[in-house]
Amino acid sequence: MRVGGHASLWVEPAHPEDLLKIVDYSRSKMTDPFADPVLKRCVHLTFVGCGSNLLVRDAGISGIALHLGAHGFSQIEIGNHHVHVGAGTRLKHLVMACRRARKTGLEFLEEIPGSVGGALRMNAGAMGHSIFDVVERVRFMDLEGKFFEKPPSELHVQYRTCQGLRNHLILSATLRVAPGDLREIDERLKAFEEKRWSSQPAAPSAGCIFKNLPEGSTGRLIDECGLKGLTFGKARVSEVHGNFIVNTGGATAAEVITLISMVQDRVQKATRKKLETEIIIIGDEEWSF
Ligand code: EPU
Repeated sequence: MRVGGHASLWVEPAHPEDLLKIVDYSRSKMTDPFADPVLKRCVHLTFVGCGSNLLVRDAGISGIALHLGAHGFSQIEIGNHHVHVGAGTRLKHLVMACRRARKTGLEFLEEIPGSVGGALRMNAGAMGHSIFDVVERVRFMDLEGKFFEKPPSELHVQYRTCQGLRNHLILSATLRVAPGDLREIDERLKAFEEKRWSSQPAAPSAGCIFKNLPEGSTGRLIDECGLKGLTFGKARVSEVHGNFIVNTGGATAAEVITLISMVQDRVQKATRKKLETEIIIIGDEEWSF
């Protein structure tokens, strides 16, 4: 969305050993009763994927933003019916690697601008599918440095969230694929791309702001309430899709957050329906350094 503050420290470990050192260092300071409270804030860990479903407040993140962008966390191993993929891998790269290997089943992920880890945490989806439809197992660690490997049935997977991965760092996953025909894969990719670009805005956004309601598209509901184009500062409810807020240039996170509340209030007054955000709002409420 291109709004919000900076992280005081942005850390990208090069490989798993570095990652363990960072997690260990953070834990030792966070749990040390004699550690300086300012230092504790500085070493607090926030896990960030590609950030496309995050809204960071304007005061930023005063601790460590940990991102698994390095090669050591972005490896893709493709088997006949499975692909094992590092959490830092961009979804687009994963889908293209599967296409080159003539594997099908993940095309619906191609247009989502996220990483595998972020997509798992959010149970990201598009085109009627969600990533957990194809997940076999997820490997992750907790803040104590303990490793886990679990199937979806043990991860409390729900629509657009996976509570079992909350406060955990996702390392890799095994996804199901099937041998496929290149022409059919390309046709599916093209159809999804056309649907994406004809129904969603190109301006910077965080994807859909709100979760859909059980009765259907929240974008349509916001549209029916006449809220497309509603603007606060430089943040605007998209004219293309009602569930997107776009940054028209120089918006602040505070403007986006205010606009989110305005939409929630107006929809509730008009329909008595309560909209829940899909995006996660993180970061400090006020400047701390
Ligand atoms: N519609 C309107 N006006 C609008 C928006 C939509 O009338 O402003 C209508 C459309 O014409 C269509 C129906 O509502 O008939 C459904 O719209 P769409 O296909 O765009 O689906 P959606 O339910 O609004 C969901 C996901 C999107 C995903 C699309 C396409 C959620 C919250 N949204 O939107 O996911 O890309 O389907 O598969 O689940 C996201 O999660 O960030 C996201 C963008």
